[in-house]
Amino acid sequence: MSIIEAEHGTALPPSIRVRLAGPRDCEALAALLDDAAHAREQVLTWLETPGTTLLVAQSEIGVLGVAVLLTRIMPKAGGGMHKVVEVDNLVVHPDQRGQRIGRRLLAAAVEWARQRRAAQVEAVVGIGKARRFYESFGFAAAADRLVLAA
Ligand SMILES: CC(C)(COP(=O)(O)OP(=O)(O)OC[C@H]1O[C@@H](n2cnc3c(N)ncnc32)[C@H](O)[C@@H]1OP(=O)(O)O)[C@@H](O)C(=O)NCCC(=O)NCCS
Repeated sequence: MSIIEAEHGTALPPSIRVRLAGPRDCEALAALLDDAAHAREQVLTWLETPGTTLLVAQSEIGVLGVAVLLTRIMPKAGGGMHKVVEVDNLVVHPDQRGQRIGRRLLAAAVEWARQRRAAQVEAVVGIGKARRFYESFGFAAAADRLVLAA
């Protein structure tokens, strides 16, 4: 199944598409992750966990990237509850970076969240490249979160 993607001025070969991941993607997804020893277990856990969704960017040469999305129902600042989708992880194969594949995956993730009536999409990042990646898409820091190291 392809995800209908929002247009964000991306100029990629049409052969790249974004779709939901399934168990047969396990090896390809594990190869994208840094922690080789635990990658397969990590991917299997993601695939089996309710509320966790994996989108993959695929071309004729294989899986080029993955976005891991966590869906939660959270309290709203002004009261009530709303649906929040967090981009827990987004990785593009090191050989394929800088070709807007990450942006394409993020656009698909945002569209996936909109189709499910999520109120917002979040990403937790430090200072650095990943932050610039999200900011270049339009993500902005939110001031309503207080965090304490447990
Ligand atoms: C971050 C990551 C997903 C970006 O994927 P990508 O396909 O290379 O990124 P894109 O080509 O779609 O870049 C989109 C925009 O993000 C920004 N960007 C991407 N990589 C960047 C970098 N290394 N430094 C600064 N900005 C960067 C740029 O503004 C870029 O727009 P531009 O092409 O107009 O300059 C990829 O580098 C990656 O997998 N990194 C390791 C995992 C990681 O840190 N993930 C993010 C946190 S979960």
